[in-house]
Amino acid sequence: MTDARIAVHTEASIDRIAPEVHGHFAEHLGRCIYGGIWHGDSAAESGFREDTVSLLADLELPVLRWPGGCFADDYHWEDGVGPRDERPRRRNLFWAQGPEETPEESNAFGSDEFLELCERIGTEPYLAANVGSSDPQEAANWVEYCNYDGDTELADRRRNNGHEEPYGVTYWGLGNENWGCGGRMTPEQYAREYRRFATYVGTMDNLMLDHELELIACGFEGHEWNRRFLEEVNGAPWGASFPLDHLTLHHYYGRTMTVAEADEDQYDQFLVEALEMEDHIERIAAAINAVATTRDIGVIVDEWGSWHPEATADTGLEQPGTVLDALSAAAVLDIFNDYSDVVTMSNIAQTVNVLQCLVETDEDDAWARPTYRVFDFYAPHKGNEAVRTSVSAPTRELADDGEDRELPLVGASASIGDDETYVTVTNLDCRAERTVEIALEAATLSEGDVRAEILFADQEPDLEVTADNADEFTAADLSVSVDGSSIVAELPPSTVAAVSIE
Ligand code: AHR
Repeated sequence: MTDARIAVHTEASIDRIAPEVHGHFAEHLGRCIYGGIWHGDSAAESGFREDTVSLLADLELPVLRWPGGCFADDYHWEDGVGPRDERPRRRNLFWAQGPEETPEESNAFGSDEFLELCERIGTEPYLAANVGSSDPQEAANWVEYCNYDGDTELADRRRNNGHEEPYGVTYWGLGNENWGCGGRMTPEQYAREYRRFATYVGTMDNLMLDHELELIACGFEGHEWNRRFLEEVNGAPWGASFPLDHLTLHHYYGRTMTVAEADEDQYDQFLVEALEMEDHIERIAAAINAVATTRDIGVIVDEWGSWHPEATADTGLEQPGTVLDALSAAAVLDIFNDYSDVVTMSNIAQTVNVLQCLVETDEDDAWARPTYRVFDFYAPHKGNEAVRTSVSAPTRELADDGEDRELPLVGASASIGDDETYVTVTNLDCRAERTVEIALEAATLSEGDVRAEILFADQEPDLEVTADNADEFTAADLSVSVDGSSIVAELPPSTVAAVSIE
């Protein structure tokens, strides 16, 4: 007797899963850069943390967004290039920086350090330009510094700073949360700013024949804001030909669930909030479809993840890393797979030490959080063709919920690669084991065709990762029974399974 059935419709393709959907976000905030990725915050004691770099390189993250966040709209890139001991120390409006939590930015880690990090870990950079407190010239100059191969002062400055060849940065975000910390703009105001910035940054693209820039506008969670923004951008005479490749949304969840005190009812609510990602994607896609029918605009979720009450400005937005958080990441990655025809990139917040980070550090060590294991587990989906799944599973009504929301207790997604079909399954039920059947359309399977693994079978959902227990969260073999086109597995509470079928 099974509790849930997942039908995998192998003939019903959705789209290729963009590898960039497994992207990350690193902001100058708390101990993310200074302390997490970079030692010290002065010229004298600077350098990469090799332990963090090595963990990030192993994960093969496809893209990394930097330097913010709210930080980006108060950041001036020229402060962070050139000899480190000559860089100005600046006040920062938004976040405490570094281990001493001083609200100042040393600029020890700037563009060349970030782009070197990307080269070392094999990731594509995604730079967020300052729209809120700067002008299009500064953004266009940044593109020229990074990407131009000609005979100009800015290209020479990059060469003198140690990088002869252009970096070829493709992804350029124009602003961050410009409805909030990035200038408190109306959608129409931001659209006008976006047009100015995209004109100058986009024109830079024409000068550089070797690669194409992808320009990214910062959207909002609500449909209406995005629709008004897109209408204003599109409304100009040059309308549909205007450079706008992606529109973003941010979705954080768990703001009322203090990790240390939460009970099982709150776990359910937390996971329902994570699953609301689907509604946000639907809404932003509807806004794009309503306004921009003649153009191809991708959706980037360039900040997402858990944000618990433990993460305050005073703690540098640090919070415990638990199985429950990791489970939410798995559920969200399943949603991204299901919307592979819409979602072109995502960037979980944040890479190291901050919010739902993947890597945590102290003075001596760096270690993987449970969410890191989920990204590793889902890696085979990257670049595969996503296919439709239908999940029949029990649901649980949320306790004391005025909105009558329900948690679906099992989730899944599936994709097809060159040699295998890959199915990921979550048991979102923290109270009970679930027996799950995975049924592959039109397949005849034998035991030897199927390999299965499981995460978190031996851990409680609220178990917090530390330097000492980090290795316990790695994947284990999962035994399954195979019969014809069906695979049956027993999933303990709060677990993630992956089944690969040759
Ligand atoms: O990730 C932390 C902050 O959350 C970012 O700076 C901002 O963009 C968002 O509100």
